[in-house]
Amino acid sequence: MDDDRPDVLLTGLLFYDLVLTGLGKPPTPGEEIWTAGMGCGPGGIANLAVAASRFGLRTSLATVFGDDFYGEYCRDVLRDQEDIDLSLSRTAEGRPTAVTVALAHGTDRALVTHGQEPPYSQDALMGDPPEARTALVHLEAEPRAWLAKAAANGTRVYADVGWDPTQQWSTDLLDQLSLCHAFLPNETEAMAYTRTDSARAALGALSELVPVAVVTRGGDGATAVDQTTGEYAEVPALDVDVLDATGAGDVFGASFVAASLGGWPLHERLRFAVLAAGLSVQRHGGALAAPGWYGVDRWWRSLADPELRKAYGFLADRLPADVGPPVRHAPVTPPARHH
Ligand SMILES: Nc1ncnc2c1ncn2[C@@H]1O[C@H](COP(=O)(O)OP(=O)(O)OP(=O)(O)O)[C@@H](O)[C@H]1O
Ligand SMILES: [Mg+2]
Repeated sequence: MDDDRPDVLLTGLLFYDLVLTGLGKPPTPGEEIWTAGMGCGPGGIANLAVAASRFGLRTSLATVFGDDFYGEYCRDVLRDQEDIDLSLSRTAEGRPTAVTVALAHGTDRALVTHGQEPPYSQDALMGDPPEARTALVHLEAEPRAWLAKAAANGTRVYADVGWDPTQQWSTDLLDQLSLCHAFLPNETEAMAYTRTDSARAALGALSELVPVAVVTRGGDGATAVDQTTGEYAEVPALDVDVLDATGAGDVFGASFVAASLGGWPLHERLRFAVLAAGLSVQRHGGALAAPGWYGVDRWWRSLADPELRKAYGFLADRLPADVGPPVRHAPVTPPARHH
């Protein structure tokens, strides 16, 4: 096997996210609100790429950068700060980067996005995809040609899926699981695609279709079956105050891949992914909220709860000796003091 293979191959749409918090009240046309907080950084597919790279995975990203300030900024952050291989990525000349402004109010967010369909498709970017140890993909109704090629060249495909805005939840999508090693939907998606009415039943149905089936359950944690080893695992979520749940599913997926590449038992893989995702929801934004080894190590060192110390005891053997420098989180303006 070629040792220079990327650990993770990724492709998808890139966004520049600008998250405004502390609005005080919902925005009204004709009015100006001075917000108390702001976080910004790369989003979309960058969420997976940064989460993976911060666990030391050799991460190769095929995406399209706009030909503007935002594209240049995202490229610099991903390549120089986060050490992500962008050799399969391109810049779309004369085109803007998709920009999303998120207005966070209460527990909800209003999103406004400006962007265009990129001039290069996933298949155009990937061509004959390089052999990688894994690929982490978002399945879509229309299968992408590169996915079958990647599966055929020995790349292990870990697949997630998103909310279906048409609400049809076409079961044809599940045909693509024949190309996949693992599938990690959330419970709403899992139940909708399998036509079942509980996370457990959905997991059972999915485990017939793919070697490793995982169902994530938000604040209720995650559950999984690995048919290759005969393991079943069910773990609770981290008990945290959620600041911004953006990208929790992405951090979960990237962390599950990192732990899987380490060959860990299923309950450790699941615990680890739940931990990393739980740490990320305490930060603003997507990509830059990922904890990496540094964040996991810090959590482990400060952990007092004896039950959690026992449940996560495996980390003592798994954490690398050098967890690297502190990860950079989204530049955030701290909330203003009230006078
Ligand atoms: N409220 C929460 N408290 C603690 N952990 C959470 C919370 N919400 C999500 N997580 C963590 O993130 C993981 C993925 O979340 P969830 O099941 O909501 O996926 P998702 O809906 O695909 O997320 P996304 O909205 O990012 O697509 C959960 O398994 C859990 O570990
Ligand atoms: Mg999801």
